[in-house]
Amino acid sequence: MRLRKLETNIRIYDSVDELSAADQTLLQSAGQAMDLAYAPYSNFKVGAAAQLSNGTIVQGANQENAAYPMCLCAERVALGNASLNYPEQKLEVIAIRVRNENKAVPEPAAPCGSCRQAISEMEDRQQQPIRILMQGDDSTVYEVESGQALLPLGFNRDFL
Ligand code: THU
Repeated sequence: MRLRKLETNIRIYDSVDELSAADQTLLQSAGQAMDLAYAPYSNFKVGAAAQLSNGTIVQGANQENAAYPMCLCAERVALGNASLNYPEQKLEVIAIRVRNENKAVPEPAAPCGSCRQAISEMEDRQQQPIRILMQGDDSTVYEVESGQALLPLGFNRDFL
């Protein structure tokens, strides 16, 4: 038997003030998107803002539906938005903000498994990692270097 260890580094910033001006702007944009989320069923609002290689910021927010499984996650709305409107650009960073209207969420929430898979696919597609910033109610920000860092042993095109 051999043991294979998979490690993920999370950089934790106690305050957004520790971030670059560009990253702060991106988190603000994710916050604006979060406010526009359509989440009447879960009351859990998620906003995403992706910074592209030309500096453009593209937003996404979760879009719920009375037919629950149709709900769209903010991250994948942002990825689709970027891919359709700026097909030549690469996604460099994605900032994710969350707010639960029913309770405090002090800790940043990481993307769900499906969004990790979608971000991972985009990284393969553009041959470049996408840095991820996450923030909850508090000023604390988590940063990981890529979507694939959040999806160890992920399934990808190499298997097909
Ligand atoms: N949601 C996201 O937008 N992104 C995630 O990564 C996790 C979940 C949304 C989907 C649904 O509208 C609500 O949050 C509760 O699951």
